Amino acid sequence: MFELVPTEVYSSADLYWSDKNSRVSKEHDDPDLRDVELEYNTVDNWDSYDTVFISYPIWWYIAAWPVNNFVSGNDFSGKTVIPFCTSASSGIGDSGKLLENMAGTGNWQEGHRFSSRASESDIKAFRLYSM
Ligand SMILES: Cc1cc2nc3c(=O)[nH]c(=O)nc-3n(C[C@H](O)[C@H](O)[C@H](O)COP(=O)(O)O)c2cc1C
Repeated sequence: MFELVPTEVYSSADLYWSDKNSRVSKEHDDPDLRDVELEYNTVDNWDSYDTVFISYPIWWYIAAWPVNNFVSGNDFSGKTVIPFCTSASSGIGDSGKLLENMAGTGNWQEGHRFSSRASESDIKAFRLYSM
């Protein structure tokens, strides 16, 4: 398990999407602001993984952009990539496709959407079923 941690962590106020002046709203309105630096962007022994699950919350119908630099900064050649997300109500939509285009490598699967209340056992069952 590898957690994507933004160097500048999002506070609750940063994530307040209904405030037009919050960090996330400004990033939403200006894609140039979505270049979110991560504490770590590379995984030890990356070559040893055949399958990579990438999980993210949905923000405005797409993958939360802190995953973008991880996706564009790693080589997924020869790997099966399975995106999955949580959301309040939206489906996974094109979020996996957009990440696939961003990555440019990897054998990306359709992926899956969980509700934001999904339990750990729901995720584990999905993982077992997908592999
Ligand atoms: C900035 C922002 C935008 C969001 N946009 C959507 C959306 O378009 N559709 C949706 O169903 N949920 C949306 N949500 C709800 C999140 O997807 C939900 O809170 C998340 O999946 C739960 O994970 P978390 O505990 O990491 O926030 C949004 C949440 C935030 C903070």
